[in-house]
Amino acid sequence: MSNKSCAAVILAAGQGTRMKSELPKVLHEVAGAPLVAWPAGVAGELGCDPVVLVIGHGADRVRATLADDTLDYALQTEQLGTGHALLCAEEALAGFNGTVLLLCGDVPLLRQETLAALLEMHAAEKASVSLLTAVVDDPTGYGRIVREGEQVSAIVEQKDATAEQQLISEINAGIYAFDAPWVFAALKSVGNDNAQNEYYLTDIVAAANNEQRTVCALIVDEEEVMGINDRGQLAEAEAVMRQRINQQLMADGVTLIDPDNCYIDADVEIGADTIIHPNVHLRGKTRIGAGCLIEPGVVMADCVIGGNVHVKPGSVLTESQVGDGCAIGPMAHLRPGTNLAGDNKVGNFVETKKANLGIGSQASHLTYIGDAEVGQNVNFGCGTITCNYDGVNKHVTEIEDDVFVGSDVQFVAPVKIGRNSLIGAGSTITKDVPADSLAIARTVQKNIEGWAKKNRKAKK
Ligand code: UD1
Ligand code: CA
Repeated sequence: MSNKSCAAVILAAGQGTRMKSELPKVLHEVAGAPLVAWPAGVAGELGCDPVVLVIGHGADRVRATLADDTLDYALQTEQLGTGHALLCAEEALAGFNGTVLLLCGDVPLLRQETLAALLEMHAAEKASVSLLTAVVDDPTGYGRIVREGEQVSAIVEQKDATAEQQLISEINAGIYAFDAPWVFAALKSVGNDNAQNEYYLTDIVAAANNEQRTVCALIVDEEEVMGINDRGQLAEAEAVMRQRINQQLMADGVTLIDPDNCYIDADVEIGADTIIHPNVHLRGKTRIGAGCLIEPGVVMADCVIGGNVHVKPGSVLTESQVGDGCAIGPMAHLRPGTNLAGDNKVGNFVETKKANLGIGSQASHLTYIGDAEVGQNVNFGCGTITCNYDGVNKHVTEIEDDVFVGSDVQFVAPVKIGRNSLIGAGSTITKDVPADSLAIARTVQKNIEGWAKKNRKAKK
C-alpha cells in the first residue's frame, strides 16, 4: 500500500552522547535490528512515501548498515536542533503537500496502530500540528506540554522550563503529524533563542497557535514513546520488544517454555506446536516449521527449518536449510550452505559447511563434512573428515546414494565415491571409488606372536 498523501521524516542525525559509543546511536540494536529500522519499518507499513531519514553523525555508516533502498536520505551536517533537522528534509519533500509524519530514530517501540490513530485525528480535526504525548511519573529531560484549558499552547523544554512548568507530568513524545508545506515555511521563523541555542521543532506548536491553526494532542502509553538515550533504556526497550514478539508467537500457537529467556528476532517465523526451550536465540530471517522441538542453548541465524525437526541442546546453525524430520545435535554446528533434504541425523560434534545431504543420510558423531555433495541414505562413521582444503583451494567430495563410510575415514578431495560402496574404517581415500566396491586404504596389520609375553614387564 502506498499512501501518496503521507510522507515520513525520521530524525536520526544526533550522536547520542549518552550512549558513550563509537557507533551512531540509531545503529544500536533492539531485538536484532538497528534502533532506526523500527520507526522506518512502521512508516513503510503505514504506506508513507517517501520515507526520509535525516542523517548526520556517522551518516555513511547509517546508510551502509541499513542498506535499504526504499529509504530517502537528507543530510544534516551540523546538529543545530530538531527544527533544523526537519528543515533539512525540505528539499527531499519539494512539491509535497500532504501530511508529514515526523518520527525519531531513537523511539523504537511505537506501534503502527498508534501512528494510524494520530494521522486519523490529524485529518479529522483538520489540524496543522498533531502530536503524541504521555503522562509520566518522572518527566525529567522531556519537553513539557503546556495547556490552556484543553488546548496545547506550547511545548517547553526541560532546560527552558520554569520551576512551575517542570512540575507538568504530560510530556512531548517528539512524534508529530504536520501539514506540508506549511510546516517548512513556519520553521523558518523559529529562532534559537533558548537554553541550548538550538532550533527547536517544539516551537512549531506556539507558531501554529499564533496563526490560529489547530493543534491536537493524542495521549498515549508512556512505554510506546520511550526515547533511547542511554544503555539502560536500550536494555529496557529490548526487553519490551522481545516480550511483544514472544507474546505474538504464543498467540500463534508456539510454546515458549520460558518466554523471558528466549531471544527471537522480529522477522523470525515459527509454525504451530513448535516448542522453544529457554536460552534459545533465533535470529535474522529464520523460519521454523510446525511441530519442531528446539532445545536449550540453540543459536540459529537465517535458517530455514522444516516440520518436526528436533534441534538438540547447544547446536549452532547459520544460513542452513534443514528438511522435515531431521535431528540435529546435541552440539552440532551447521555452517552456511548446509542443506539437509530431510530425515537426516547430524549428531554431536558434527560440523557441516556447503554440504548437500540427500534424504536419510546420517553423520551421528565427530565428523566434518565440508564442500560435499552427498546422496541419499549415506552413513558416515564416527570421525569422518572431508579434507576439502589443500591450503590454497577448496575441493568437493562427492558421495553417491547408499554409501557406508566406516569410522575414522578421510576423503582427500576432490574425490568421488560411487553408489552403494563401502569404505573401510581408518581409510584415507585419495582416489575415486567405483560403485558397489569396497575401498580400504590403511596399513596392513601385523601380529607378532609371543612378543608381549616376552617384553611386557609385570607391574609390581
Ligand atoms: C526531543 C524534544 C522533546 C521531547 C523528546 C522526546 C525538541 C527540541 N525536544 O528532545 O520535547 O520530549 O525529544 O524524546 O525537539 N536530532 C537530529 N538533529 C538535531 C537534533 C536532534 O537529527 O540537530 C535527532 C536525534 O538524533 C534524535 C531526535 O532528533 O533521534 C531527538 O533529538 P534529541 O536530542 O534526543 O531530543 P531530546 O532532547 O530528547
Ligand atoms: Ca531523545
